[in-house]
Amino acid sequence: MYRSWIAAAAATLLAPAFAMAADLRIDANAIFKPIDAASVATAVKNNDITAAKIELGQKLFFDPRLSKSQIISCNSCHNLGTGGVDAGPTSIGHGWAKGPRRAPTVLNAVFNVAQFWDGRAVDLKAQAKGPVQADVEMNNTPAEVEKTLNSIPAYVTAFKAAFPSDPNPVSFDNMAKAIEAFEATLTTPNSRFDRFLKGEDAALNDVEKKGLRLFIDKGCGGCHGGVNIGGNGYFPFGVAQKPGEEILPAADKGRAKVTHDAADEFVFRSAPLRNVALRAPYFHTGSVWTLEEAADIMAKDQLGETLSKEDLGAIVAFLGTLTGDQPKVSYPMLPSRTKDTPRPQ
Ligand code: HEC
Ligand code: HEC
Repeated sequence: MYRSWIAAAAATLLAPAFAMAADLRIDANAIFKPIDAASVATAVKNNDITAAKIELGQKLFFDPRLSKSQIISCNSCHNLGTGGVDAGPTSIGHGWAKGPRRAPTVLNAVFNVAQFWDGRAVDLKAQAKGPVQADVEMNNTPAEVEKTLNSIPAYVTAFKAAFPSDPNPVSFDNMAKAIEAFEATLTTPNSRFDRFLKGEDAALNDVEKKGLRLFIDKGCGGCHGGVNIGGNGYFPFGVAQKPGEEILPAADKGRAKVTHDAADEFVFRSAPLRNVALRAPYFHTGSVWTLEEAADIMAKDQLGETLSKEDLGAIVAFLGTLTGDQPKVSYPMLPSRTKDTPRPQ
């Protein structure tokens, strides 16, 4: 009611193109949210974000000595120079083992409802303990990580500074909290789409606006909404029809493994779409290499619609406007090992 009144008023007062943009913005703001300082501040729970923690977390993110082989860091699979992902299709970890899923991006991960394609970690600090121990990733143990960190005096000092009231600052838990603090800085504000949401009409061109209109009207926004344009809920993959085995293999039952509920078979967290143009290949299998094809699959398999080439092109153009300012990350100098530091294995 209110919205149509505004639209009608705008249409009579303003040039038609301007009114259309205003209407589109109202519809978009009902579904999506721009990244701003407030969204970051409310996203992290039970972990005060301090400068000391961020600095330590950045070192840990880049430090391959957290892995058993001491050649794999978080950045190996979440390369901050390539949109926070690896080359794909799925990740290569310890001993060249190939993992079952595509690495999702760490950029803006702080905004996701939960972490992993199936949401099995409640937040980033819970998440960070997983890859360090996973045998197909870093293949280490909490005790061994603590031994490594304790053997390097500069790390002991940095943990004391980051966790001043903790009697046991150098711990696996605190490693995870420091990494979470650093990851919370990896946001990409100021995309052209954010600028449009905040009122800048010229931030999107006509094709991109058409793509946004289609994204909303066709129903993509129903699953990919909120501040991360996705990552905000769980949905079956294959609502209208099931994608082929290479895209959705029968062995990976998705969220059912977390909830032990058969109704959650092939349910996944909707993929967050910020910076999506930077990080092909797509889907949890990393099996699709272009956004055109990914959007086509979504339209057919999630919405039961075959979109024209032109409409798909407009949606892909819109998805390109979700690329924001990339975080400026300088490569940290890591404190050197001592004779007590465990050797690579
Ligand atoms: C060998 C490659 C590899 C390494 C090393 C690795 N990750 Fe990951 N990461 C992955 C894969 C693959 C997934 C998705 C797994 C899944 O969903 O089951 C993932 C998921 C994540 C997610 C969830 C993002 C989201 O949108 O759900 C975050 C955050 C993350 N990793 C951070 C880290 C951190 C921090 C480290 C270092 C402590 C790390 N990763 C090390 C491959 C890796
Ligand atoms: C019913 C919910 C739903 C609808 C509707 C939907 N999606 Fe998705 N989307 C998902 C889920 C769930 C995933 C993750 C699939 C997986 O596990 O690989 C996803 C993944 C994607 C990806 C892959 C991103 C990546 O990082 O790998 C793109 C791109 C995408 N969707 C775009 C769209 C577009 C465009 C539309 C509309 C034509 C759309 N989606 C409609 C739920 C939905």
